[in-house]
Amino acid sequence: MQDWMIFLILFILLLATVLYYIFTSKKRKSPFYHKKEKKWKQSSPTDMEYVKYTVFLIGDAGAPSLNHPDKNLDLLRLKILKAGSKSAVFFLGDNIYPVGMPRPDDPGHERAEKRLLRQLKTLDAYTGKKVFISGNHDWNKGRKGGYEAVKRQQFYVESYFGSQEVFLPRNGCPGPVELPINDDLTIVVINTQWWVHSGTRPLGKINGCEVDSEHEFFQKLEEALEKNKGKKILVIGHHPMYSMAYHGGNFSMKQHLFPLTEVHKKLYIPLPVAGSIYPIYRKYIGSKEDMSHPRYKSMRKRLLNIFKKYDNLIYAAGHDHNLQYIQKAMQHYIVSGAGCKVTHVQKKKDAQFVHAHKGFMKLDFYYSDDVWLEVWEPDGTPYGRLAFRKQIISAVR
Ligand SMILES: [Fe+2]
Repeated sequence: MQDWMIFLILFILLLATVLYYIFTSKKRKSPFYHKKEKKWKQSSPTDMEYVKYTVFLIGDAGAPSLNHPDKNLDLLRLKILKAGSKSAVFFLGDNIYPVGMPRPDDPGHERAEKRLLRQLKTLDAYTGKKVFISGNHDWNKGRKGGYEAVKRQQFYVESYFGSQEVFLPRNGCPGPVELPINDDLTIVVINTQWWVHSGTRPLGKINGCEVDSEHEFFQKLEEALEKNKGKKILVIGHHPMYSMAYHGGNFSMKQHLFPLTEVHKKLYIPLPVAGSIYPIYRKYIGSKEDMSHPRYKSMRKRLLNIFKKYDNLIYAAGHDHNLQYIQKAMQHYIVSGAGCKVTHVQKKKDAQFVHAHKGFMKLDFYYSDDVWLEVWEPDGTPYGRLAFRKQIISAVR
C-alpha cells in the first residue's frame, strides 16, 4: 500500500472518531442509569414522614465560587437547614485547593482561608452534626508539609465551630473514629490519605492517635464494624474503593485524542497514540492518589476484604469529581466528589448511576430500616434537581 493511502485511511479514521465524539457529547453529559434504574422516578419512599436520620455527603468542595453565589453550596444549605438536628453533613476531603491551609505568612494563605470559610459559612445556624475529613490536597497534595497543613486546617475548623468533633480523624491520625448515631446507624470515619501520604504520618498516643501501627488500625476497624454488625454502617473516607473516573484510570476519548485540552480547553490538537500515554500511566502505574499505585492498591485490598464481610455497609468517598453509585453484592459504594469541580466519569460494570455534574448525595435512614439514596444537583433553580433516587437497603429482603 502506498504511503498516501495509509495517511488517508488514518485521516478518515481520525475524522470518524472526532465526529463520533462530537455527536455523542450530549449523551456523555447525561447521567447514566443502569437498565434496572431507568424508571427510578416511579419509585419513592412510602413513609416520607418517618425518616430517622439523614446524612449529606459532599466532597472536593475546596474551590467554591467566592465572587458569585455558589449554587451547589447554596442548594446544600437549603437541604441541611430543612433536615435540622436529626442529620449530619460530611465534607469528604479536598476542602482547600490546591495545597490545603498554608502558613499565615504564605501568599496562598488568604485565598485558602476564603475557600474554607465559604464552606464553613454554609453550615451557619445548622443544628445537625458537621464533620470535615481531609483529602490529598489538604495534605499539601500528599507531599512533605502535609501533616502541618492538615493540622492548621483542623485548628481553623475547630475554632470556627468551637468543637473538637468537627474535623476527623483528629491530628492527621489514621482513625478509625466511631460515631454512634442511634440504635440503627453507626458512622465510622477513616483517614485514607494517611495510607498514601509521602511525608510525616502520625501514629501513637504521643501524636494524639489511638493506634500505634497499621495492624492496630485494621484491628480497631474490624472491632468497630463487628460491634455494629446488626446496624447499618456508613464508613467515610476520602479515597474511593471503586472508581469509574480518573483515579480508577478511566479517561475519555477526548483525553486520548486531544490531551492538550487538559492544559487549555481550546487546544484541540489531535495527538493520537501520544495522547494515550498519560491515561495508560494513570491506569497501570499511577501516582499515589491513583488506584493503580501499590500503596493505594494495598490499602484498598485490605479495606475491601473487611467491608465485604458486612451486609448493609455503605462506603462513601470523594476524590473523583463526579457522582457515582456502585453496588457490589450487599455493599454500597458512593463517590460524591463533585462539590465544586466536574471531570469525566464512565459507566462500568456494577454502576447503578454515574454523572459528571456538580452535586451531592443524601442518605435517608428510615424507622422502617429502609435506606434511600438521593443525588441532588444544582440546576439554576433554588430547589435543585433530583438526579437519582434509589432504595439501597430494604427492611424486607
Ligand atoms: Fe482527592
